Amino acid sequence: MRVLVIGSGGREHVICWKLKQSKRVTELFCAPGNGGIAGLATCVPITADDVEGITRFAVEENIDFVMVAPENPLALGLVDRLQSQGIRAFGPSAAAARIESSKAFSKDLMVRYNIPTAKYRLFEKESDALSYASEITLPAVVKADGLALGKGVIIAGDRMELEDAIRAMFSEKKFGNAGDRVLIEECLEGPELTILAFSDGDTVLPMISSRDHKRALDGDLGKNTGGMGAITPGADLTEAEEHRILETIIRPTIAALKEEGAPFAGVIYFGLMLTRDGPKVIEYNARFGDPEAQAILPRLQNDLMEVFEACVDHTLDRIKLVFKAGASCCVVMASGGYPDSYQKGYEIEGIETCGKLVFHAGTRLSDGKYLTNGGRVLCVYADAETTEKAIDSAYEGVRGIWFRDMHYRNDIGQTENKI
Ligand code: AMP
Ligand code: GLY
Repeated sequence: MRVLVIGSGGREHVICWKLKQSKRVTELFCAPGNGGIAGLATCVPITADDVEGITRFAVEENIDFVMVAPENPLALGLVDRLQSQGIRAFGPSAAAARIESSKAFSKDLMVRYNIPTAKYRLFEKESDALSYASEITLPAVVKADGLALGKGVIIAGDRMELEDAIRAMFSEKKFGNAGDRVLIEECLEGPELTILAFSDGDTVLPMISSRDHKRALDGDLGKNTGGMGAITPGADLTEAEEHRILETIIRPTIAALKEEGAPFAGVIYFGLMLTRDGPKVIEYNARFGDPEAQAILPRLQNDLMEVFEACVDHTLDRIKLVFKAGASCCVVMASGGYPDSYQKGYEIEGIETCGKLVFHAGTRLSDGKYLTNGGRVLCVYADAETTEKAIDSAYEGVRGIWFRDMHYRNDIGQTENKI
């Protein structure tokens, strides 16, 4: 099969790396790809949200299957467009991707189908939000309705912060149109856990759990980023706890989307908080997480192409996922300054000699050398029998890599996550 992957980060690199191992894939393309992906696939210079450009390329090049990894093209309906041209495409329709692209949609769905989540109110006017803000208990969470690169969430500890957050979204338009509607939510407490699951619209198969580290600095300090590292498993859940998450959250969500006429086929991401009252949904995403995918997929023993096809062909009930036993850790190496401004174009040393699997995020190849080309640059992966050993092994790899102004967290997998 001629397969095209959409996207350009570490997540897309690990997807290409896994697909390359499949006998079913004869030729692999990636749009737009990056320096590391270029070693596995033919990179095509079309941006991920160019729906028409990608569709044209897929038709002209007789692509058999397209895997859409990032949220923007999913929200723009790339999967619908490709399918309307008779091309098999992995990922939810734009209608199902609303669980990520509209928090108002996802919260309303959860409330109507009794899926546990934080209590919330939705506002379309700043004055209404401000008057509500004067009477609620603090801390409270303010969220932009639409896609805001993971940055549209503000946790307000006092009244002033809360009002500033509301104004930033409505009148200052800090998150553009994403902040036209704003949610104010109860602040939950507890360890966070990510569960990704494959679904074909009916059957849903959870993967091993994982945990991201969103803040830029050690000790969960600094700004929110796309994710600075991840571990699997994300928590030591008992069978009863796993069962509760499956029966109160995962299955009801897939059933609800089907009931709403927007069946979800693809990977669904459950961002959970394990509160004293049980697991609750913090957010849904309509795709693999980055860097969660880099921590999970190397442990997957199945042929990833077969799993993708089963999601699209509605035959996921015939698949059993198998993961390598033990644990894994991936550490993101970023450009100094990220998530704010940073320099690009520095030469990277040690990728091939560090002895670990390294997935590229923001890199490009120039005259046979890898140069930095983004905020998150690399993701160094290791697995082992225990989480501690996986962490040590990943950092061993990190120490073998160097580029100017590089920045990484030293405590991936080591922050408290007690249930
Ligand atoms: P989100 O973009 O929805 O994943 O939110 C980003 C981060 O904000 C989450 O990973 C949580 O750490 C935090 N957060 C979001 N909503 C809540 C909430 N209701 N209570 C506590 N923390 C939250
Ligand atoms: N790592 C969080 C995300 O991909 O949204």
